[in-house]
Amino acid sequence: ERTAPSSGELLEIAVELTRDAAATAYRMRVEGVSVAATKSTATDVVTAADRAVETQVLDALRRLRPADAVLGEEYGAGGTEVAPGGVRWILDPIDGTVNYLYGLPHYAVSLAAEVDGEVVAGVVRNVTTGEEWTATAGGGAWRDGERLRCSTETDLGQALVGTGFGYDPKRRAHQARVVAELIPHVRDIRRLGAAALDLCLAAEGRLDAYYEKGLAAWDQAAGGLVATEAGLRVAGLGGRPAGPDLVIAAPPALFTPLHDRLADLDASGGP
Ligand code: IPD
Ligand code: CA
Ligand code: CA
Ligand code: CA
Repeated sequence: ERTAPSSGELLEIAVELTRDAAATAYRMRVEGVSVAATKSTATDVVTAADRAVETQVLDALRRLRPADAVLGEEYGAGGTEVAPGGVRWILDPIDGTVNYLYGLPHYAVSLAAEVDGEVVAGVVRNVTTGEEWTATAGGGAWRDGERLRCSTETDLGQALVGTGFGYDPKRRAHQARVVAELIPHVRDIRRLGAAALDLCLAAEGRLDAYYEKGLAAWDQAAGGLVATEAGLRVAGLGGRPAGPDLVIAAPPALFTPLHDRLADLDASGGP
């Protein structure tokens, strides 16, 4: 069995690689972006930058941490198998690819380190603004040196709630029905287009809460830790852990009302 480095050491690596990755994404955005390919549906796009950023981080990890496993959105599971006690990196090279494509300044690089299946360190960097959110398990959530606490809102009717929609049209139709029923019961809804940033914004009360069905590990690994460490409860329906069925991130006082509403609306159901 291997001894993993401390979460602080893993975070240091994650921050460095994410800064370099963000510089690449930014440079490629300035040079001009086009769709390189489509994936699950015609609107699920990947650009050359998604691939270039992932390759850059994979190469750096291979150099710095050759024994570690890696999971990235564009190239899947690379590196080696996860050994007991070993580290797995989880990367979303560009979260918010559609914003990236359209030149909307709201997209991020997200990188987390997992030890024994638990995320212990994570960083999310907004490429355009340079805002950088970090967290280590038990070490709190931070943005640019400032400790973060989630919203203290207690009334769902006053809550600004972020959400997102997947790429599959059938899933989107179901998600649209859920959000249509939810809108009268909250202050308003935001669909900002980058799940990792939604979780980080909730970590500092710039959103009161967030939910989404269909997230992959790379969407939520780093942001989920940031949110948890800022005091949000991050979970699925019916006591299940957050996962592809549903991620709810809400301050303790908002969690149950939002959860129960989403359960009533069958937010984790549908395709
Ligand atoms: C997407 C974004 C979006 C969310 C989707 C994700 P991508 O990730 O985070 O906000 O609603 O579920 O797939 O494809 O831009 O990395
Ligand atoms: Ca993503
Ligand atoms: Ca992505
Ligand atoms: Ca994508």
